[in-house]
Amino acid sequence: MQIGIDRIHFATASQAFDLKDLAEARSVDPDKYTIGIGQDKMSMAGEDEDIVTLGANAALPIVEGHEGSIDALLFATESSVDQSKSAGVHVHELLGLNSRCRVVELKHACYSGTAALQMAVGMVARNPKQSVLVIASDIARYELESPGESTQGCGAVAMLVKANPSILAIEPDSGLHTQDVMDFWRPNYSDTAMVDGKYSAKVYLDSLKHAWLHFQEVSGMVISDIQHFCYHLPFTKMAEKAHARLLKVNKTDHPKIESLKATLQYNRIVGNSYTASLYIGFCSLLDNAKEDLANQRVGFFSYGSGCVAEFFSGLIQPGYKERLLTESHQNALSARRTIDYPEYLALYKTQHHSDGQDFESRPMTQGQFRFSGIKDHKRLYERNESSEG
Ligand code: COA
Repeated sequence: MQIGIDRIHFATASQAFDLKDLAEARSVDPDKYTIGIGQDKMSMAGEDEDIVTLGANAALPIVEGHEGSIDALLFATESSVDQSKSAGVHVHELLGLNSRCRVVELKHACYSGTAALQMAVGMVARNPKQSVLVIASDIARYELESPGESTQGCGAVAMLVKANPSILAIEPDSGLHTQDVMDFWRPNYSDTAMVDGKYSAKVYLDSLKHAWLHFQEVSGMVISDIQHFCYHLPFTKMAEKAHARLLKVNKTDHPKIESLKATLQYNRIVGNSYTASLYIGFCSLLDNAKEDLANQRVGFFSYGSGCVAEFFSGLIQPGYKERLLTESHQNALSARRTIDYPEYLALYKTQHHSDGQDFESRPMTQGQFRFSGIKDHKRLYERNESSEG
């Protein structure tokens, strides 16, 4: 029996900030961002957008009409809004899912979306009648004027995991690498990540090598068995560095780095979305590849600083194209409102609520759900009446 991704959809914020404007504000050559780092824009969450609304917006089109048949919701994030309650429970309510549903939040930096996906596969293997909704949702935030600032962004991806999936059958073997390192972390008292950027890129590449070697050992596959590669995308240049390393480890020059192009298109204009970024890259491949991908194998490299890494593979299913939500992705990306530098700064400052005060958000989102504010320390969510959808 095959198990994997039956539906996939992503959502991002309703605002976008152009990195050329950030370059001007920081007196940096814009080529450093657009060429050196490989990013053109970052999605910027509005006052009424957070990981819950992004996650619910990502999931809505794939659960609508099937609310009663979701058996579990696994919510992966490293930008939690609560230390105790799972963000997934807010999403469960917004989507109107059945109360007979298991909901939990998972964490390990950018890796936990993959942990959730593999756990979902395990749950369906145990009971093939089950449908498991995996949501990976994050807002990537670094200190203003830090090297990481240009790699901010946000987004959420939702994946419905089922038996006999229509989009991707996930194969059973995984290559793993875990090591206790401090390349990127966020202590409870900080609202931005602490990061040793150059070191994190080095650990990412070393972890890729170890995870790949383990994958080869357990699966018996060689690099030519895989037609497409999706890498974790903190910024798109990282995928090029990763692929170059994989080619070197395998003493080959094929598939060429240029073959990654379709996987990078969305992330280039969304920015980092931590747990979601690998899977937004996969959406980008599905939506933007020129050729028919049916029966082709995709290799996925998931990396979470700290660090846990996994290399796994999947086979794209015949007929997958009819199940894609390409138009929804492209419309949402092009409908984003471009913000200027003062608004970028203003939004940056209102994203995090640490003073325990009541807060009422101004309407900004174009999504179906909004974070309306905080009252008596409780986060409040509602359907967005002004949304056109
Ligand atoms: N034109 C073209 N390229 C330029 C340039 C210009 N004018 N100026 C610089 N560059 C290139 C650099 O050569 C470098 O390329 P290379 O990595 O291939 O050598 C790239 O742009 C970045 O420049 P660098 O000076 O290394 O940037 P930085 O130190 O200011 O920040 C990161 C880069 C990745 C360290 C930083 O964005 C960061 O900390 N990000 C968050 C952490 C992260 O995402 N880690 C990844 C693993 S999870």
